[in-house]
Amino acid sequence: MEHTELIKPETLEDLIQTLHKIFESDSVNVEEVQNIMESYESKPHEWMKYAKFDQYRYTRNLVNEGNGKFNLMILCWGEGHGSSIHDHTDSHCFLKLLQGQLKETLFDWPDRKLQGGMQQKSQRVLLENQCAYINDSIGLHRVENVSHTETAVSLHLYSPPFQTCQTFDQRTGHHNTVKMTFWSKFGERTPYESTVSQENN
Ligand code: SIN
Repeated sequence: MEHTELIKPETLEDLIQTLHKIFESDSVNVEEVQNIMESYESKPHEWMKYAKFDQYRYTRNLVNEGNGKFNLMILCWGEGHGSSIHDHTDSHCFLKLLQGQLKETLFDWPDRKLQGGMQQKSQRVLLENQCAYINDSIGLHRVENVSHTETAVSLHLYSPPFQTCQTFDQRTGHHNTVKMTFWSKFGERTPYESTVSQENN
């Protein structure tokens, strides 16, 4: 696999430029992307304009469309906010902590033949600047800000970009397909009409 010499990105803008370069190639080197995202040291003043919170649920805020190869977005998690258990629609998912901590719980895909609850595979706490990776062959996950006092902000890269995913009921293993929308794009609030559908499952 082609491997260009990559320099540590000093700013979010540097990171975006480096990601554009990496994704010019058709094959994704997971370790390379994970390392480069992890090596960026979060500086709030660089991403503040994208970090828009909602009182009731986590928000998804589009930062960059990666020339159609990836979507880069900032997710803002208020105290106690969490996602449903979901898949990643055959895409790569990189998740880097910009601020605070998030708990990630991994699940196996539910077995269609065995009706019943979904088993937790593992759990970990992601710390500031750490970058996690998941795809559908690894499994499904739920992401939560379990803190009652601190918010959390994470940077997500999905490649290729996707607009729907499947969410799962932990008790039954049943799933639904949901549309994923953005609370804001490029720092501007998305017009109300287009955010009415399931914003984050
Ligand atoms: C995630 O997959 O880590 C968060 C879910 C989302 O993109 O809304």
